[in-house]
Amino acid sequence: DYYGVTLPVSDVHHKKSILLKLNENGGEKERYELNVTKNGITIAGDNPASVLMGIQTLRQLLPVAKNSKDLTIPQLFIADSAAYEWRGIMLDVARHFLTKEEVMKMLDMMALYKFNKFHWHLSDDQGWRVEIKQYPLLTEASGWRTFNNHDQWCFDAAERDQNNDMLLPESKLRIRNGEQEYGGFYTQDDIREVVAYAAKRGIEVIPEIDMPGHFTAALNPYPENSCFGEPGWGKQFSAPLCPGKDHVLEFCQNVYREIFELFPSQYVHLGADEVEKDNWIKCPDCQKRITDNNLEDEKDLQAWFVGEMNTFFEENNKKMIGWDEITYGNLSKNATVMWWRSWMKDAVDKSTTNGNEVIMAPNSHCYFDYKQDHKTLQNLFEFEPVPQDISTEQRKLIKGLQANLWAESVASFQRAEYMVFPRILILSELAWRNDTSRRWEEFYPKLVNEFTRLDGYQINYRPLDLPDVHFTNTFVGETMVTWNYPLPQIELRYTTDGTTPDRNAELYTEPFQITETTNFIIRYFRPDGSAADIFRTSYRKESYQPGEALAKLPSVHLDWHEAVVRKCLDMDTLPVKKSYELSTISIPDEVSQTRALCYTGFFDFPEDDIYTFHLNSDDGSQLYINDEIVVDNDGPHGSVTLSGQKALGKGAHPFKLYYFDMNNGGCLHLKIVDQKGKVVFETKKM
Ligand code: ACM
Ligand code: ZN
Repeated sequence: DYYGVTLPVSDVHHKKSILLKLNENGGEKERYELNVTKNGITIAGDNPASVLMGIQTLRQLLPVAKNSKDLTIPQLFIADSAAYEWRGIMLDVARHFLTKEEVMKMLDMMALYKFNKFHWHLSDDQGWRVEIKQYPLLTEASGWRTFNNHDQWCFDAAERDQNNDMLLPESKLRIRNGEQEYGGFYTQDDIREVVAYAAKRGIEVIPEIDMPGHFTAALNPYPENSCFGEPGWGKQFSAPLCPGKDHVLEFCQNVYREIFELFPSQYVHLGADEVEKDNWIKCPDCQKRITDNNLEDEKDLQAWFVGEMNTFFEENNKKMIGWDEITYGNLSKNATVMWWRSWMKDAVDKSTTNGNEVIMAPNSHCYFDYKQDHKTLQNLFEFEPVPQDISTEQRKLIKGLQANLWAESVASFQRAEYMVFPRILILSELAWRNDTSRRWEEFYPKLVNEFTRLDGYQINYRPLDLPDVHFTNTFVGETMVTWNYPLPQIELRYTTDGTTPDRNAELYTEPFQITETTNFIIRYFRPDGSAADIFRTSYRKESYQPGEALAKLPSVHLDWHEAVVRKCLDMDTLPVKKSYELSTISIPDEVSQTRALCYTGFFDFPEDDIYTFHLNSDDGSQLYINDEIVVDNDGPHGSVTLSGQKALGKGAHPFKLYYFDMNNGGCLHLKIVDQKGKVVFETKKM
């Protein structure tokens, strides 16, 4: 189809055909053999799923360009099987909705890259997306909502960067009772259609109805399922359902009964992440449940709820998956743990020791909604999914890998594609080839080549980054602006007057000289004319700022604010929990994960030079030298590295470094490199 060619299908074996063959005594494993000879092509597998994988390999071997006329393949023989039996992608359609057609397009691409599990996050605080006949208000009321703070983030980004991907699609808006609403949901027929569509492509659909927390969309129309009849928000997360009331368990099980009917998959995902327990402390029904069942506390009550649901799943011949919060308490061996909290480092060891299967989806690498930087792809490629220090027996319980696309800031399907591609190609590589011999330098040219196929499928992918271009670039005198861009099909257009580049903006074709400070906004355009995110880079003309000659560098001063902030400068107005005098930039052990840190001190530079500052953090950070910002890595985000440059004279220069973590697993790393590439300062890994 991609090439405009249709192959006739026949039960009779012709010469020079593509023969699909099921091995006798075939097994469960997805092993296939692909044999291309001058007499034809044979794909043999142990089961239909593995034959399908062989077909995908054949598709990948064909030319990347759409409508290619020369469809020749060299003679070859491939015997292959996946490194992991679980190769999943999760889409959150609750925060922002995707239509069934959009989901199907993603399934098509997942199949091409040999993913076999689609985890469908169908409910959350902000929306309920699957029709439940017994409780029609779930979709009638919670399939639609007025604009919320997530939408506002998206509107702000759309305006700031003139980016239509961040706008809510018109087709998902409606006016009801004079109010603008956003939403959509799937009827049960829609669900069956998607499940069948996925099955044809070798993909199993795993539904998730998240409970007992992330349940506001159910509690709003059915408030009798909450502790006090009042859905709302607690300190960190939404108020959960009330596990103390029997009718609440019935409600949950009734919902899941319909879900079990709709989804033939053996696995079903209960969610069970991020539960705010304040209401449970105050609720007499919850407290009675704790007493009646000899439970320790509210955490134990959560484990009890998970246990009850697990029993119910088992009675219905379903296997329960839950986020790694379910590892707390006496978890049944039959439950499968989805590890997401990368900062809970012992979760995998603990689960596999307990005999639970584990799916690896740590937010450090597998959260595709997280902001990307120039190292994101390589970091993912070099990710070792299985911890080194677990036994062979434990290792067997690692079922596989999954990437999750949470949709708080994913306003449209175009944005979903932008976040997923090309990262999904690297995850596919990991899922099929998790051996230590893989090398980024070998893989990278293949990745570059594959973008042409993504063009053919009109994927709104994120283009590759410009190598060796910093957020701020410094020059003394004059410099050549040189952008060696790896993707030839992409147009690089730029402005220098602060306006957003459009299709008529200056096109970069060759290196050019500048003699004055210039602030560029660059925009990548794909071959179909669609625009990617803008990228800002400034080239600053500087002279070497003189440093101070200090006999001894003063200590580094650290102010710790025990607070959650979303911007570095917000901490300036907050009280200091404790101050420290340190010998270098480091984080004292007693500083908790709830941290907003501000360091002040001096860096000592050995000679006049242009220095490059690489600042990595999760969440935000900012670096100032001589009161000027050099790297702005601000805002809530996962591990992101940004770099900036400054011309500095020999001697000591004062710095200010801000860093915060929103209590969800953080890191901070600063490296300073001179123009020859020599490291002149580096923090320890923190
Ligand atoms: C999660 O990210 N709350 C599973
Ligand atoms: Zn309660």
